[in-house]
Amino acid sequence: MERELALEFVRVTEAAALATGRLMGRGDKIAADNAAVEAMRMAFDTVYIDGVVVIGEGEMDEAPMLYIGEKVGAGTPPLVDVAVDPLEGTNLVAKGLPNALSVLAVAPRNCILHAPDMYMDKIAVGPRAVGCINLDATVEENIKRVAAALKKKVEDVVAIILDRPRHEYIINELRRLGARVKLISDGDVSAAIATAVDWTGVDILFGIGGAPEGVLAAAALKCLGGEIQGRLVPEDERERTRIISMGLENPEQLLLMKDLIKGDDVIFAASGITDGDFLQGVRYAGDRATTHSVVMRSMTGTERFIKATHRLDIKPHYVARGCSGGLNPRDRG
Ligand code: FBP
Repeated sequence: MERELALEFVRVTEAAALATGRLMGRGDKIAADNAAVEAMRMAFDTVYIDGVVVIGEGEMDEAPMLYIGEKVGAGTPPLVDVAVDPLEGTNLVAKGLPNALSVLAVAPRNCILHAPDMYMDKIAVGPRAVGCINLDATVEENIKRVAAALKKKVEDVVAIILDRPRHEYIINELRRLGARVKLISDGDVSAAIATAVDWTGVDILFGIGGAPEGVLAAAALKCLGGEIQGRLVPEDERERTRIISMGLENPEQLLLMKDLIKGDDVIFAASGITDGDFLQGVRYAGDRATTHSVVMRSMTGTERFIKATHRLDIKPHYVARGCSGGLNPRDRG
């Protein structure tokens, strides 16, 4: 994929962040999600790709846009797979809590795992601990190996995990071992990325979260040189059948980086919606709004942070309820 596309993808996550950021703290996660979805969908029209959504808002019959299989982009080459989460952390925006992001990943056609909307067990680390984790090993083995790779004591390792009853055993183990634990209410894409960003202080992610979020995190970690391993967690026979129908012979297969994202060409973009560990949220002031985004390419490993000031008087479609006015023709060039 041409590197110029990277900036185009940032404009897509910026549009979603600008639309949903207005709804921070309103207590309405559905309205926040709708605003992000609508804005992201429209922003894709201006991007010169022939894209198919492989991770999106659900199946065609349950999502009006950005559904799995929907074509996005201007319809010109390159042919690409598109994974999106216009609003990762619906509750975070509804409550005004940190780390809500708008994210997407794009790779050549058939290179992104078409993960169904179910749970995935995950473990993730940044570049210095690559090769040290194993989803099938115990919490203790993983923590000790990561501590050794980072040249830290176990008590200095910071583990991040969704605060859920299903994680009680892992959390108790981490506490028994003396590791430092960061419990989060939502947002495990941001948490996985944090393991690969030095200044967050986070070393390892554990726990079960969404499978689509796992694939998006894999795209980001591929660019950042980190690692994630996952295993789908079907909750019933229907979900098991679903996994097999999407091409995985063994529903319990351990999914490595190469299974989640094939090849070495993926672009990941994210814009902050609420203030977070590595991206600032959207700021509005009169007829201006500021966004903070990152775009990364696995081919070069470049991480590009972009702070943008948007003129809402010139781009009124960015105001309040998403892009309902349609894209400004000036944005197409
Ligand atoms: P949404 O943006 O869809 O609300 O997802 C937020 C999230 O916290 C993800 O980051 C995480 O993977 C998943 O939900 C965890 O699911 P659950 O809330 O069911 O434990």
